[in-house]
Amino acid sequence: MNVLRFSDLAAAGRAKGARVFIRADLNVPQDDHGHITEDTRIRASLPCIRMALDAGAAVMVTSHLGRPTEGEFRPEDSLAPVAARMGELLGGAFAKGVPVVANWVNGVNVQPGQLVLLENCRLNKGEKKNNEELARKMAALCDIFVHDAFGTAHRAEASTYGIAQFAKVACAGPLLAAEIDAITQALAAPKRPLVAIVAGSKVSTKLTILQSLADKVDGLVVGGGIANTFMLAAGLPIGKSLAEPDLVGDARAVIQAMKARGAEVPVPVDVVVAKEFKADAAATVKAATDVAADDLILDIGPKTAAMLADKLEAAGTIVWNGPVGVFEFEAFAKGTETVARAVAASAAFSIAGGGDTLAAIAKYGIEKDIGYISTGGGAFLEVLEGKTLPAFEILARRAAA
Ligand code: 3PG
Repeated sequence: MNVLRFSDLAAAGRAKGARVFIRADLNVPQDDHGHITEDTRIRASLPCIRMALDAGAAVMVTSHLGRPTEGEFRPEDSLAPVAARMGELLGGAFAKGVPVVANWVNGVNVQPGQLVLLENCRLNKGEKKNNEELARKMAALCDIFVHDAFGTAHRAEASTYGIAQFAKVACAGPLLAAEIDAITQALAAPKRPLVAIVAGSKVSTKLTILQSLADKVDGLVVGGGIANTFMLAAGLPIGKSLAEPDLVGDARAVIQAMKARGAEVPVPVDVVVAKEFKADAAATVKAATDVAADDLILDIGPKTAAMLADKLEAAGTIVWNGPVGVFEFEAFAKGTETVARAVAASAAFSIAGGGDTLAAIAKYGIEKDIGYISTGGGAFLEVLEGKTLPAFEILARRAAA
């Protein structure tokens, strides 16, 4: 993708003394007391911030946090906990926390070498609808706008899109650039076989991804409720398992499209079932042909897991989105664990994204064995669908102008 990169501008000395506005995605999960429970996105934002500081810029960073009502500040919407964590991670002069600036749209006082965090940008009226007046005011705050919020790259909002239209210079930060490079490497010029794992509760939420991948991948592993619908399409019984019978035709079309290319959708040969959806429900392994009318499929069986592990081991590239069973319940976690460990052990270039996938990766401690872990949730899925995200569209347009 032909976009200006902040790393190039910084290396060329163009950020020295400049006012740099970084849009990051610091939308991290918090518990009921506002404590950050998972800080991957804050850590991932640091290389860009350090790059700007090292280049001698006056640095402003903003992000959304949650989905607050515009114009109505509530303490729980504040980026203050993020500022504290960011300060700890940056250390040195920032160890006590990065200063948070509220009501910043009409002007920000920041000097070269300084860093400020601009309060939750979704509190600004007009943010979500990409209001032009708001976007122009934000653009006027800086000399260089850096989009480094991959997790929000699928949104066209004032702080992600409008500002990129109107800023003097608009470029991609290192995280945004790395994410698109990794996904492009995985999908556009993959080492084959290319195997995708697409799992989740519903075919309907991932149908376009399945259809788009059906043209590209050599193996399409489906899991969770999605696999149940594919089992129905293959004529297998699924008892009272979660499925979408009205999408059986679409599932069949995906299987056919894959077959026509000599590719495959491996359907489970065995499954783990229970009579109730409960952590302590009795788990029984059954052949896929033997599922009873009152069974709930909650995981793939050991034969299926071993078969998938072999395919993952032989893969050249793996794209992974979604756990293949109810891995939060120990009795139904083995399928996801086997798949996770196979992805980790494979010599393939692997790329993983999505909240549940990241939770599974953390649970099995395999972070270091995954080629690239995306910070995107919805954004990662939209790239897999084959969409050009608004962030890349506007940055490419600015680079071409
Ligand atoms: C995410 O968590 O996926 C991103 O931060 C985007 O958040 P949004 O869905 O509220 O736009």
